[in-house]
Amino acid sequence: MQRAWPGNRTARVRGRIAHRLRTGGIRGHLLGLLLKLKLPRSGVLVVMAGWRLPEIDDRGGRIDVGDCGFFPGVRLECWRDAVIRIGSGSYLNRNTEIVAAASVDIGRDCKIGRDVLVMDTDQHALPGRPLEARPVVIEDRVWIGARAIVLKGVRIGHDSVVGAGSIVTRSVPPRSVVAGQPARVIRSIEAQS
Ligand SMILES: CC(C)(COP(=O)(O)OP(=O)(O)OC[C@H]1O[C@@H](n2cnc3c(N)ncnc32)[C@H](O)[C@@H]1OP(=O)(O)O)[C@@H](O)C(=O)NCCC(=O)NCCS
Repeated sequence: MQRAWPGNRTARVRGRIAHRLRTGGIRGHLLGLLLKLKLPRSGVLVVMAGWRLPEIDDRGGRIDVGDCGFFPGVRLECWRDAVIRIGSGSYLNRNTEIVAAASVDIGRDCKIGRDVLVMDTDQHALPGRPLEARPVVIEDRVWIGARAIVLKGVRIGHDSVVGAGSIVTRSVPPRSVVAGQPARVIRSIEAQS
């Protein structure tokens, strides 16, 4: 096994820090540190494009966030015993809202567009039925277009794209482009070699 020279490692870490500061800015990282006070189970957070911190409404659940970016107006609502997970490299654009009554799992390197709403519950019971919560999973490298809504029980397969304004009511196979209300597959994406 090859051993990394301490000098090389230091250079790599320095390079990573420089890259982060270039992309997130010093202000973004300082705000990220403030946000970390509300999200103790998180990696390196960056708050982009403004001063407003995301709203964290944790009602006794668990929120695990990797190295992620947040734009102004983001809101995470985590009900009692529920879980929200967001993988490293993902960002949530302006006014995105996540509501978890059971669990909402967002993978790595996802781009969640502005005004997106992800809910794993209808929040109100239908007459004659108990209130349902069904986990939502958004796999790695998914891009969700602006103003899309992702509803309970949906799994969006990795490397998929959700069109702007779509309402996703059923699961999406990996590498699909879906759009419309309800969202339907409009094409598949070739795997990159
Ligand atoms: C989904 C998307 C990526 C597809 O782009 P594209 O591959 O260039 O798609 P096309 O424009 O060729 O459209 C293909 C078909 O899907 C339909 N379609 C595309 N996007 C749609 C959408 N969001 N809702 C409904 N139908 C849509 C088109 O009308 C077209 O239908 P037709 O073949 O019957 O005419 C793009 O339309 C989109 O929604 N981008 C999201 C942009 C966004 O929100 N960015 C983030 C900002 S924060």
